[in-house]
Amino acid sequence: MATPMPVALIDDDRDLRRATAQTLELAGFSVSAYDGAKAALAELTADFAGPVVTDIRMPEIDGLQLFATLKGMDGDLPVILMTGHGDIPMAVQAIQDGAYDFIAKPFAADRLVQSVRRAGEKRQLVLENRMLRRAAEDAQETLPLIGQTPAMENLRKILRHIADTDVDVLVAGETGSGKEVVAQILHQWSHRRKGNFVALNCGALPETVIESELFGHEAGAFTGAQKRRMGRIEHASGGTLFLDEIESMPLATQVKMLRVLEMREITPLGTNEVRPVDLRVVAAAKIDLGDPEVRGDFREDLYYRLNVVTISIPPLRERREDIPLLFSHFAARAAERFRRDVPELSENVRHHLATHAWPGNVRELSHYAERVVLGVEGGAATPLPSQPTGGTLPERLERYEAEIIRDALAANDGDVRRTIEALGIPRKTFYDKLQRHGINRGGYASRK
Ligand SMILES: Nc1ncnc2c1ncn2[C@@H]1O[C@H](COP(=O)(O)OP(=O)(O)OP(=O)(O)O)[C@@H](O)[C@H]1O
Ligand SMILES: [Mg+2]
Repeated sequence: MATPMPVALIDDDRDLRRATAQTLELAGFSVSAYDGAKAALAELTADFAGPVVTDIRMPEIDGLQLFATLKGMDGDLPVILMTGHGDIPMAVQAIQDGAYDFIAKPFAADRLVQSVRRAGEKRQLVLENRMLRRAAEDAQETLPLIGQTPAMENLRKILRHIADTDVDVLVAGETGSGKEVVAQILHQWSHRRKGNFVALNCGALPETVIESELFGHEAGAFTGAQKRRMGRIEHASGGTLFLDEIESMPLATQVKMLRVLEMREITPLGTNEVRPVDLRVVAAAKIDLGDPEVRGDFREDLYYRLNVVTISIPPLRERREDIPLLFSHFAARAAERFRRDVPELSENVRHHLATHAWPGNVRELSHYAERVVLGVEGGAATPLPSQPTGGTLPERLERYEAEIIRDALAANDGDVRRTIEALGIPRKTFYDKLQRHGINRGGYASRK
């Protein structure tokens, strides 16, 4: 059964208030009766779900003032005025100002009930629309997690379950697989979205600054610390702390981080002060920290502390059915951004989508979609197996090598250091090969 529609009734006359309340209760409304505007205003909120019925003549705050106050609070709240004979001109003015209706006293019960019913229906519609709009706004804020494979459906289900709990989460997945998207969703889908989402790349910070970044410092805590600075952990208090590339956190910091996770408090550098923090920690790792072989000297105790819940995002090659969906999404987005049309997919592009291993996962796919839209890919740019596969062994190896280098560049946004690392070759060899294969590194730079 639907919950009865609430009605707020305000009348200073006790007998009339009781009689009117009874009329409305009998008609199926749930009435909150108040003997004056003050009492009503103390309880009514902007999202009050039903109409307000008020007498005009009341001591202190009269019905018209109450109407004006309510209108300021929520312009869509329907207010019905009950007026004595002499107040009709005022009531007409109030209607022009947006009051829902007025009813001249004495009135027939029917007349009141009908007006309240209509006002209630209108109210319900307004609130429904409001809710839909808010939901739409929320949805827009949230980054999309595209994918219809069972793995992705499952991932979304888990995220829905744990997002609004305070449990710490370890997100594992290859580069570009969506770890940060997952972390942001955990934040957005929780009450913590009102706080900060603080992302900290543990691999990118030099060891010398990571601690003052994390914990903050007092002025003069060390050379160069001129001003007091709030650390990132404290900044994330009330929100979410995202520790990206946790596997590259320096050992000394790991010890301190473990303490933060256990005690939920920090001590800024240069102080003895202990400050409590209200945190949800989401950590991301590209490697399997659960495997002692792989974990290396990453602290086992920190791993176990982080690993309350581990979410593993499968690599794109293990959910190939999502590739077309993701590609269309990124191509449409790129087309809009670059003011181009989404091109017809060439045989080359189709083939690439269907056969490529996507070592850079979703990020690589998104950059590929951008290049296709920009027309720098999709023609003969990438040697594909659909092109002549023949030739001598050295020729074929050459082609294969060029493809591997292009893939590595794409997976690493054209970042030379990371590409070289991924390929495991000396810098000079890398540049020599670029030149020999006529590969333009610039074409792979991130276009975020
Ligand atoms: N399921 C998905 N739906 C839509 N976009 C996605 C999805 N997964 C990843 N992306 C997009 O792909 C890009 C890479 O994702 P993200 O930054 O989350 O990867 P990551 O796992 O953190 O990578 P890295 O380890 O290299 O930091 C982002 O632009 C992100 O928006
Ligand atoms: Mg990331």
